[in-house]
Amino acid sequence: MYRRAAFVLFLACGIVFQLSHGVEVEVKDQDKLCLYANLMVNFSVSYDIAGNKSATAEFELPANVTTVGSECNDKSSLLKLNFGEGHSWSMNFTVTDKMYQVDSIAFTYNLSDTTLFPNSLNNDTKTSTVKPHITDIGLDTCYSCKSNDMLEDVSVNQTLFDVLIQAFVNNGSKSEQITSCAADVPTASPTTAAPATTTKPTTTPTTTPTPTLPPPATGNYSLKNDNGSTVCLLAYFGLRISLKQGDKYEEMNFEPNGTTVSGSCGVNSSELVLLSSTMNFSFTFLNDAKKFRLHALNVTGKTSSGVPFTEANSSLSLWEASVGSSYMCNKEQNNTITGLLSIYTFDLHVQPFGVKKDSFSTAEECFLDSDLSFLVPIAVGVALSFLIILVLISYLIGRRKSRTGYQSV
Ligand SMILES: *[C@@H]1O[C@H](CO)[C@@H](O)[C@H](O)[C@H]1NC(C)=O
Ligand SMILES: *[C@@H]1O[C@H](CO)[C@@H](O)[C@H](O)[C@H]1NC(C)=O
Ligand SMILES: *[C@@H]1O[C@H](CO)[C@@H](O)[C@H](O)[C@H]1NC(C)=O
Ligand SMILES: *[C@@H]1O[C@H](CO)[C@@H](O)[C@H](O)[C@H]1NC(C)=O
Ligand SMILES: *[C@@H]1O[C@H](CO)[C@@H](O)[C@H](O)[C@H]1NC(C)=O
Ligand SMILES: *[C@@H]1O[C@H](CO)[C@@H](O)[C@H](O)[C@H]1NC(C)=O
Ligand SMILES: *[C@@H]1O[C@H](CO)[C@@H](O)[C@H](O)[C@H]1NC(C)=O
Ligand SMILES: *[C@@H]1O[C@H](CO)[C@@H](O)[C@H](O)[C@H]1NC(C)=O
Ligand SMILES: *[C@@H]1O[C@H](CO)[C@@H](O)[C@H](O)[C@H]1NC(C)=O
Repeated sequence: MYRRAAFVLFLACGIVFQLSHGVEVEVKDQDKLCLYANLMVNFSVSYDIAGNKSATAEFELPANVTTVGSECNDKSSLLKLNFGEGHSWSMNFTVTDKMYQVDSIAFTYNLSDTTLFPNSLNNDTKTSTVKPHITDIGLDTCYSCKSNDMLEDVSVNQTLFDVLIQAFVNNGSKSEQITSCAADVPTASPTTAAPATTTKPTTTPTTTPTPTLPPPATGNYSLKNDNGSTVCLLAYFGLRISLKQGDKYEEMNFEPNGTTVSGSCGVNSSELVLLSSTMNFSFTFLNDAKKFRLHALNVTGKTSSGVPFTEANSSLSLWEASVGSSYMCNKEQNNTITGLLSIYTFDLHVQPFGVKKDSFSTAEECFLDSDLSFLVPIAVGVALSFLIILVLISYLIGRRKSRTGYQSV
């Protein structure tokens, strides 16, 4: 019965969505689309039967589901798919700072349903709740995972596949932007141990280096001098790193909220240390009496697939400005730290030495910000034309010289 229903739905959707073949639902809030899902789930449920034995029921999420009980809110949403004799499957979404994630998946099944669970000893309704690794989905993007994602619980295994979902839909229409799960992104990740078997959940989603990553939140950090009376270091920036893994780059934003700030201010050297749950940074600034600069940077953290990394460079000359002023770069700036690591800064403003009255001194702006940066292409053009004229002149002179040369012979 389910199969036929699936077939009918496939035909109906096939006209519009030629590639979709999963269970497709739309949840609306005041007639506007607020949650979209197109997915497949295979269930394997073990249950008790007579004689101290257990049986295993295997079935698919049927196509005729209802979404009664689903709801969309600003910070959390629920997708609830009801099917058959009192069974349901639901996904809980929450928003955390420009990203959303799936907190849990709950599968409720009614053991009295003899079509799915023949000879069940028990006639209760049971619920299995699992926590999937479906996180860091950019707001206004769809989460896509074609790969199998097996979620195990004591007596229920679920396999999710061909998943395309978007929660917190904006303006009533599904986004064209996709956040793909890690399993779908073919990476040659060198540090993961044995080849992945299918027993573990396989989705640790990464945001690929496509425009899906929103700009990082701007952090505002400061340090006080030893007696804690005045501010001696000020830093204000949004930070993103790009880490090379195999032949891919993984980009990650640094989340300033919840960051522990420490460090020290010295005469010749100051240090700013930022510790967050995902990444740690240690910035060392040097002061050579005239200028200051970012001299050393040490970054440690974990990739989205859980592989730890440490990248450090202590011979940098970045963010340079006169002592007594601050360094500013509002444009996105891109700096290579090591062969594997680059950092991107946004709205950067730092002053590691000589802070007065707890505020930034006059800023020296980076070249990217300056009004003169537009002159670069013009200057190049002028230089090129000049070169062409020079070549022409020397050619003409050369010709004349050789002509007179021949005449003199
Ligand atoms: C899901 O179940 C169907 C039928 O039970 C089977 O043909 C298919 O291979 C299963 N898919 C996965 C990914 O387990
Ligand atoms: C779930 O999967 C595990 C590992 O593959 C297997 O040992 C277990 O028997 C499965 N349980 C059910 C209910 O299918
Ligand atoms: C059923 O299991 C219980 C406890 O696991 C055991 O005490 C009992 O002997 C078993 N009965 C049969 C018929 O195997
Ligand atoms: C469970 O299944 C039985 C038998 O199909 C049905 O009578 C009962 O209403 C179902 N329970 C719920 C909560 O729907
Ligand atoms: C469920 O089972 C209990 C005993 O195990 C029985 O008393 C009850 O009538 C059953 N309920 C249904 C709806 O079958
Ligand atoms: C920082 O996180 C806390 C709790 O995690 C939250 O209440 C607060 O709104 C967040 N602040 C910003 C600026 O995101
Ligand atoms: C700072 O550098 C100057 C010149 O290199 C040196 O004389 C002075 O001792 C240094 N001060 C500290 C605190 O290291
Ligand atoms: C970078 O930080 C890590 C951990 O704090 C430390 O073990 C390592 O020695 C540091 N590397 C450099 C070059 O400072
Ligand atoms: C970052 O800089 C490198 C080298 O300077 C360049 O190849 C790369 O395209 C830059 N990336 C971005 C996003 O600007």
